[in-house]
Amino acid sequence: MRRVLVLGGTGWLGREISRREVERGAEVFCLARGHSGHVADGAHLICADRSSAGAYDEVKTDWDDVIELAYEPALVEPALEALAAHAAHWTLVSSVSVYSKNDEPGADESARLVEPQDLSRYADAKVAAERSSAAALGDRLLIARPGLIVGPGDPSDRFGYWVARLERSGPALIPTVDRRFVQVIDVADLASWIEQAGRERVIGAINAVGEVHQMRDFFTAAIEATAYRGDLVELDDQILLAQGVNFWAGPRSLPLWLPETDTAFMQRSGAAFLAAGGTLTALDATLARVLADESSRNVHRERRAGLTPIEEITVLQAAG
Ligand SMILES: NC(=O)c1ccc[n+]([C@@H]2O[C@H](COP(=O)([O-])OP(=O)(O)OC[C@H]3O[C@@H](n4cnc5c(N)ncnc54)[C@H](OP(=O)(O)O)[C@@H]3O)[C@@H](O)[C@H]2O)c1
Repeated sequence: MRRVLVLGGTGWLGREISRREVERGAEVFCLARGHSGHVADGAHLICADRSSAGAYDEVKTDWDDVIELAYEPALVEPALEALAAHAAHWTLVSSVSVYSKNDEPGADESARLVEPQDLSRYADAKVAAERSSAAALGDRLLIARPGLIVGPGDPSDRFGYWVARLERSGPALIPTVDRRFVQVIDVADLASWIEQAGRERVIGAINAVGEVHQMRDFFTAAIEATAYRGDLVELDDQILLAQGVNFWAGPRSLPLWLPETDTAFMQRSGAAFLAAGGTLTALDATLARVLADESSRNVHRERRAGLTPIEEITVLQAAG
């Protein structure tokens, strides 16, 4: 039986990967504190704080795949030291945030990376994790670089904001869509591919990204997926910024909206992912799954990302 060690497994993606591994017959162990949530049914939690001495003592045995979800050097490096010699294959979940620029549509994995300086920054820590993993594992390492991960249960509330917003009535505020793009990866596609790539011992750095859609087409598909029959009100970047609306994520934001200089962040090449066996759920199917999830979680709930209804109305009124 395939034995898989997930370094994590209590967060959203780690649990989804573990679920696929269990479904495909692997014996799955998840090393985590248990603070972030539960592990997938059928997986075993090994409770340990990875920043403490001896955290890896229980798992220093042979593994068909080790799947690393963390990126903080204080977690990544001791794990490599303790476990690299025991792993036939290692999968590091990195990110497309490792690239230093987002100005070239269709750029592939050879694009220049951020040079790590401040390891408390996400991109810097991700690149440092890639480098230390490569040094320890050589040709046993898969570096999966997902784009924006979306799907049911997403704790970041970004993609789901739009579906939830369009389930409500009233004019919906959106950013200017011209020359803007949406590229996401459905968590189901990502988790399935990570399981398969581990089994097939795929190696190298691979962007795990979906199809590129014009942002205009994304909103058309989101409207079709929902019952929305109101107007979309596009506002210029300058107006949104003057109203204190944030790009991309978090409170008082328009999720998925990026500065014009970064629009190619959502236009990465996914050719290597498809060549390595990745498959993609159609956007309308992902939207339908997210709508079902948003409806079950209540589209009126407080969110981690987006505008509240009052913020949205205030910005629309201020813009005239
Ligand atoms: N969301 C996106 O759109 C996106 C895009 C690209 C890449 N990514 C990457 O995708 C991954 C997301 O992973 P995820 O959702 O499974 O989990 P996560 O929320 O990022 O948490 C990582 C895991 O590490 C564990 N952990 C943290 N500190 C620990 C410690 N001191 N000791 C032991 N375990 C510890 C957590 O478990 P406990 O808290 O239970 O200990 C959790 O299971 C990340 O690598 C992220 O950078 C995300």
